[in-house]
Amino acid sequence: MTKVLRDKHIVLGVTGGIAAYKAADLASRLVKAGAVVDVVMTEAATKFVTPLTFQALTHRPVVTEMFALLRETEIGHVSLAQRMNLLIIAPATANTIAKLAAGLADNMLTATALDTRAPILLAPAMETGMWENPMTQENMARLQKRRDVTVVGPGVGRLASGGVGPGRMAEPAEIVDWARIVLGRRGPLAGRQIVVTAGGTREPIDPVRFVGNHSSGKMGYALALAARDRGAKVTLVSAPTALPAPVGLQLVTVQTAQEMYQAVLASLSESDALIMAAAVADYRPAVAAAHKLKKSGAGLGLELVRTPDILAEVATRRAELGRPRVVVGFAAETQDLVANAQAKLKAKRLDLMVANDARQAMGADVNQVTLLDAAGGVEELPLLPKDEVAERVMDRVVELLGLRSEAGGA
Ligand SMILES: Cc1cc2nc3c(=O)[nH]c(=O)nc-3n(C[C@H](O)[C@H](O)[C@H](O)COP(=O)(O)O)c2cc1C
Repeated sequence: MTKVLRDKHIVLGVTGGIAAYKAADLASRLVKAGAVVDVVMTEAATKFVTPLTFQALTHRPVVTEMFALLRETEIGHVSLAQRMNLLIIAPATANTIAKLAAGLADNMLTATALDTRAPILLAPAMETGMWENPMTQENMARLQKRRDVTVVGPGVGRLASGGVGPGRMAEPAEIVDWARIVLGRRGPLAGRQIVVTAGGTREPIDPVRFVGNHSSGKMGYALALAARDRGAKVTLVSAPTALPAPVGLQLVTVQTAQEMYQAVLASLSESDALIMAAAVADYRPAVAAAHKLKKSGAGLGLELVRTPDILAEVATRRAELGRPRVVVGFAAETQDLVANAQAKLKAKRLDLMVANDARQAMGADVNQVTLLDAAGGVEELPLLPKDEVAERVMDRVVELLGLRSEAGGA
């Protein structure tokens, strides 16, 4: 999990819809991610969930009344509006959306929303009829035109009335993801294009079998999210994994080394950095049988041929185009880790090599890596969760691009 929410001040506005109970889960996730969360509830919201629930989850007083002062010297909505980094309204009722679109400020939440300059993340939740009503749609359009508003959902699904249709609040995990994206937008990689590869390629033997490897894609996906949450435009070129598709980035799915080669080269001219975390097959079956191979005889020989060398081609194109400016490779070795990684770093003309022991790294949630740079620097990192490794690697990418990490974001 990226660090972008850590110590950020988030106001969570909860309005009077049946999905208010999900806002408790959302508050809990935000707190766990390190955010400071102040909950503001409308009067209607308190009919669905008690303020006590949110107070217990956030360890902070919950604001329900416009005319209650936060501290003796502070006017509630003013102090919240000025302090927050992000306002999330989840669930957002049709009624509150209409008020926001009209610029009304008749309760603590709408007053805070009108006053703040922080970005707003809105998760509408209502019956399909309310959502599809042209009034609501006009209100949404108006709001998005006037304010820095990001809308998450609503999704299609089962609604409280028992019906099925659009109007279901986005899941809390997705709202947290969008909170990361919105807060990361002004990060050090804002405006930069980063290509990340992930997963293990599959080289077909026949229509149902393949030559593959144990890569889970976790490292590459963590890197893609770390880049996204620093404001980068990310293209994730992914070989098959069991991971859910991340939001807020461009996902390009491929199967084979050849497809990965084409997808990476197609994205090169625009990219500032390329991070090759995928486990790409070096060899593929010379022929992929058109039909499922039948069992016959005692054994079966498989002729293997080389797959295209993506990094070698990247080095050639880079010499011509000057892009990507930074190339990071991964070395998964089972012996002589540093020596092998150093040789690969030189041979492929990389800026940074992340060396790890393939036997420990593949499929695991943690990884112990050594970072080797072109200047000869060797940094051995401790055993860390893969998302923490991703943060460290991305710090180095920011540095290599000549950007400053302190610019915010992560
Ligand atoms: C049981 C029940 C469920 C409701 N669910 C929703 C809902 O999901 N979305 C919505 O926009 N309004 C819903 N409403 C209507 C709102 O509660 C009502 O419009 C209220 O004035 C909203 O006030 P608020 O926007 O200040 O929270 C519901 C009302 C009831 C009684």
